[in-house]
Amino acid sequence: MADNFRAWDIKLNQFNRLKLEEEKIKFLLEFAIRAPSTHNSQPWLFKLGDSSCDIYLNPEKRLPKADPTERDIFISLGCCIENLIIVSGYYGVLKQVKFYNKNSKNLVAKIVFDFLSPRKEIKSLKGLVTAITYRSNSRGLFNSKKIESRIINRIKKILGGFDLKIHCIDDRETIVKLAGYTAKGLLMAHSDKEFRKEMADWIIGNNSSRLEGIPTYSMKVPNIISPIFPLLIKQINLGKILSRLNFKSIASAPLVCVITAKKNSSRNWLKVGQLAERVMLELNKNNIKTSIYLASVEMDGLYRKVMNVLGTTYKPQFVFCAGYMDEKFKPTPRIPLEEKIL
Ligand SMILES: Cc1cc2nc3c(=O)[nH]c(=O)nc-3n(C[C@H](O)[C@H](O)[C@H](O)COP(=O)(O)O)c2cc1C
Repeated sequence: MADNFRAWDIKLNQFNRLKLEEEKIKFLLEFAIRAPSTHNSQPWLFKLGDSSCDIYLNPEKRLPKADPTERDIFISLGCCIENLIIVSGYYGVLKQVKFYNKNSKNLVAKIVFDFLSPRKEIKSLKGLVTAITYRSNSRGLFNSKKIESRIINRIKKILGGFDLKIHCIDDRETIVKLAGYTAKGLLMAHSDKEFRKEMADWIIGNNSSRLEGIPTYSMKVPNIISPIFPLLIKQINLGKILSRLNFKSIASAPLVCVITAKKNSSRNWLKVGQLAERVMLELNKNNIKTSIYLASVEMDGLYRKVMNVLGTTYKPQFVFCAGYMDEKFKPTPRIPLEEKIL
């Protein structure tokens, strides 16, 4: 397996054979780094301690154009933390999770493990842990199969804290409205040359050996234009085409989930990431594909329209579609864990 895809080659039963604490923490972190992140920027760094792991925000991965408020970088870190919580819970070694405030020099959270007197494996988490090993952000059209209401009801019950809400939208009219706002957001974003320049730096050709960024295959770009696609994004405003494609994908989804928060704060954004990842994995576990589209909540003014449609005073933070797709998705690359350890 090529180095950039090594993170995906993992077997669940390896954990109990590991002897050293450090090996065990590294094994758990292999699951953490499979989390989604903006532009696949993988903005996390880890410092291993005695039975613990500190999680840092990597300031070099900030995206001033795509993420000026830093909401997305914290959401990405929240997704990573949630993977770590799920997998260490599954193996019965999770002791404590501690969060730090924004002034802690990029230190975001500490996870404390208990390897000496581990609790029993939490078998009910096995489906989520397995889903981490095959999850992907699945762009494209959904087929017409509906999601059973028992699954939707289950995800509505997943709690992200008092100041977060999850809105599950399955009526066509509202889904089409949200698709329209996303399309508009993309048009606005791509009309900005500086945004396109930053974005182009994070798109990688299909045969690239780069360890971060979005491969063109995962954006459904035809092979023939894959090598020049980053240049096209940078030089030409493809906003119209991209917004039409995104509109179609979202409008085909049987379910759109929007996570809202009482207020914007880095702590809430971490929670949003945790809730989003938990809910997406719960769906993935049931063979349901998920696809993230944040353009409608990122652009000025549009997020208010989303609030109106949802009938909430909470601020929209994260939007993803869910449904069934017939194709299999190839994973995106990851920077090997060793390079992420301080
Ligand atoms: C906070 C956040 C925002 C994202 N925004 C978008 C988006 O607006 N459009 C999109 O196509 N993908 C979006 N993504 C998905 C990432 O591009 C994707 O997770 C990344 O390329 C890694 O690929 P993978 O999720 O398949 O492993 C977002 C992911 C995160 C965590």
